[in-house]
Amino acid sequence: WREAGIPAFNSLQSAFLRPGAECVVEKFDVIVIGAGAAGLFCAAQAGQKGRRVLLIDNGKKAGRKILMSGGGRCNFTNLYAEPSAYLSHNPHFCKSALARYTQWDFIDLINRHAIAWHEKTLGQLFCDDSAQQVVDMLLKECEAGQVTLRLRSEVLAITRDADGYTLELNGALAWAEKLVIASGGLSMPGLGASPFGYRVAEQFGLKVFPTRAGLVPFTLHKPLLEQLQVLSGVSVPSTLTAEDGTVFKEALLFTHRGLSGPAVLQLSSYWQPGEFITVNLSPVQDIDAFLNDERRAHPNQSLKNTLAKLLPKRLVECLQLLGMIPECTLKQLNSRQQLELASALHQWRVQPNGTEGYRTAEVTLGGVDTRQLSSKTMEARDVPGLYFIGEVVDVSGWLGGYNFQWAWSSAWACAQAL
Ligand code: FDA
Repeated sequence: WREAGIPAFNSLQSAFLRPGAECVVEKFDVIVIGAGAAGLFCAAQAGQKGRRVLLIDNGKKAGRKILMSGGGRCNFTNLYAEPSAYLSHNPHFCKSALARYTQWDFIDLINRHAIAWHEKTLGQLFCDDSAQQVVDMLLKECEAGQVTLRLRSEVLAITRDADGYTLELNGALAWAEKLVIASGGLSMPGLGASPFGYRVAEQFGLKVFPTRAGLVPFTLHKPLLEQLQVLSGVSVPSTLTAEDGTVFKEALLFTHRGLSGPAVLQLSSYWQPGEFITVNLSPVQDIDAFLNDERRAHPNQSLKNTLAKLLPKRLVECLQLLGMIPECTLKQLNSRQQLELASALHQWRVQPNGTEGYRTAEVTLGGVDTRQLSSKTMEARDVPGLYFIGEVVDVSGWLGGYNFQWAWSSAWACAQAL
């Protein structure tokens, strides 16, 4: 608390409870902190089981990230969601929750609310109309569970006694037997992201793995950035490989800050500072074989125009300025030059300068150490009644609906135990 500039609980309590002042403590069965994807769903499920639930958020709206997600259409799950699509220091942890509440369960809920959806690509499911429909659905589910939703509410302090947890909120005290932390990670502070959940974990003696931005664009060192800036807006199908051997085959987008697009966002979660990435700019067509065929048919054609049949013209021009493509005709290209060119285009090694960080990251890697949580209920093993769900936990998914599926699955698993 002190780190975040928040005074310790006792001093706050004494300031709040002035001598002689009457203090009313509102009692609930469950308090959920964070009305994002995981918190809304968990609160709704617990409420529908008959629990009296208080759901708190410091923002003025519930589900702010959901509203921003998927370009406003919310990529709410993925048909291929499975444990191998998640990063964690403890890769087995997510298995139980993902198996007990699956993408098909969430699709069923979406269908029950008559929300039209479509598969965009690679199993990614989006609303046909708007992400607002998913937020409205979750709010309706909360209403069905008679959840008390309190927005613009700051949690100033938490104390635990033998029976439960007392929360000091701005202007009120609330008590519940069970406390669920669903306050998310650090990505996009503009949407209410805060280190709150990590601080609570630390307060109760849980380990928190260092965090870093994931699903985030790369920035480039100045000389290369200046050379590639002319390509801003150009997108190419590519295969990207990280130094640990992880491979993603999706689009690469050049931006005025560096590299982005789905392939880059995916790979960023597997990249460590200082490492190189390998870019295959022609993942389908073998460049050597292509140039041999073209030379036979059009020996006097320029190499540049030939490659422009495979790659965007602006990219070819830029790679020529970088010295990767010789200025010559196909018949002038000798076999050594051709092999060097093929290798440069299939295995272009780029060393990112860094990432754009939490400001634009879709997810936060690291977080509450899952070895201290029950994979069945998300409860802290040594702190009865305290639960962590969603992104605050050290489980992060790939791009494409996997992170929301973790939010739904972990929230559901937790709610069964409340
Ligand atoms: P989430 O961040 O949703 O909610 C946490 C809540 O806690 C917030 O409402 C916050 O205001 C509140 N909070 C924080 N600190 C608090 C405090 N101190 N007191 C009270 N409340 C507090 N994933 C996906 O699967 N498909 C997609 O299409 C996208 N798209 C996408 C776009 C963008 C722009 C971003 C930033 C992220 C995505 N994601 C995504 C990732 C996805 O949004 C994310 O993984 C989930 O929202 C995580 O759900 P949680 O409920 O854990 O946190």
